[in-house]
Amino acid sequence: MKVAVIGAAGGIGQALSLLLKINLPENSILSLYDTNPMTPGVAKDLSHIPTSIQVEGYSGDDGLKNTIKDANVIIICAGIARKPGMDRADLFNNNANTVKYIIENIAEISPNACIGIITNPINTLVALAAEVLKKANIYDKRKLFGITTLDIIRAEDFIAEEKGIPAEYVHISVIGGHSGKTILPVLSQVQGVKFTEEEVIELTKRIQNAGTEVIEAKAGSGSATLSMAHAASIFCVSLVKALLGKQGIIENAYVDGGNPCSPFFTQPLLLGVHGIERVLPFGELSPFEEKTKQDMIKILHADIQKGIDFIKTK
Ligand SMILES: NC(=O)c1ccc[n+]([C@@H]2O[C@H](COP(=O)([O-])OP(=O)(O)OC[C@H]3O[C@@H](n4cnc5c(N)ncnc54)[C@H](O)[C@@H]3O)[C@@H](O)[C@H]2O)c1
Repeated sequence: MKVAVIGAAGGIGQALSLLLKINLPENSILSLYDTNPMTPGVAKDLSHIPTSIQVEGYSGDDGLKNTIKDANVIIICAGIARKPGMDRADLFNNNANTVKYIIENIAEISPNACIGIITNPINTLVALAAEVLKKANIYDKRKLFGITTLDIIRAEDFIAEEKGIPAEYVHISVIGGHSGKTILPVLSQVQGVKFTEEEVIELTKRIQNAGTEVIEAKAGSGSATLSMAHAASIFCVSLVKALLGKQGIIENAYVDGGNPCSPFFTQPLLLGVHGIERVLPFGELSPFEEKTKQDMIKILHADIQKGIDFIKTK
């Protein structure tokens, strides 16, 4: 398996590349690209970690093409991150062009690759990416993912903290989208844990605003990188194992999954050798969750339309 990381010299990119160098299946190839000329150096640095995973790194004109050529999975974390006072939509003007350019190259060089988008705003950029792939006549909705695993690991950590239980025993599904009110942690389905109404309201709010907690704590120097890298590594390793034929792997991601409430929606997915094997139901929601879901639909639709319109006008 060849995994490409685009934006590999950034805060998320470097930490993610480190985790992939350690955690990808044996003999995988890890190919790094970033416009930052230090990228071959990041690859050299990682190559001194003694695992069987081969690392290569590129920047410069042909770098992107070399990195994505023959890749099975391409993870995109290129683009600018939030600063205090910004929400994810503020990143759109810059990051839309970055993602459009990368996806156009993928369509040309590596049309069969699975693509995982980390770059924000995810709600919009995944829809934008789908439009680019449709224009190139190679869109396969089983292979395009917005990586939202960070919402899950944050939710698990916050629940463990609130309830005083080990985080490894907490499992939760987070559905919807990946910004503010579109993030819906399904607290009612957490096994073995009961929440009061106040706890549900407070935890939901905290999970929805967790990104801002990090941005404020980093005092203007960026958004979540280390926890995001861990989350993306979980998702990416699962996807690679599923592509290799391992059965029964389930991850949540923001996908074109035929959900009646929104054309793109985060929900559980059974992964397989072609990417998404089956979109799984997200189960029964509590009245609070059902209302949160209804309230987010308008926001999600507007976010998605913005991505579609961006490509239409190009
Ligand atoms: N999905 C999530 O849950 C989540 C969480 C946190 C951050 N993010 C998003 O991830 C993105 C990256 O965040 P970061 O903190 O790593 O930012 P960063 O600024 O540290 O790194 C971004 C990297 O992208 C590179 N880059 C920019 N344009 C490029 C291009 N055209 N081709 C290749 N590389 C390019 C830059 O050189 C830089 O190294 C941001 O958009 C951020 O909002 C997503």
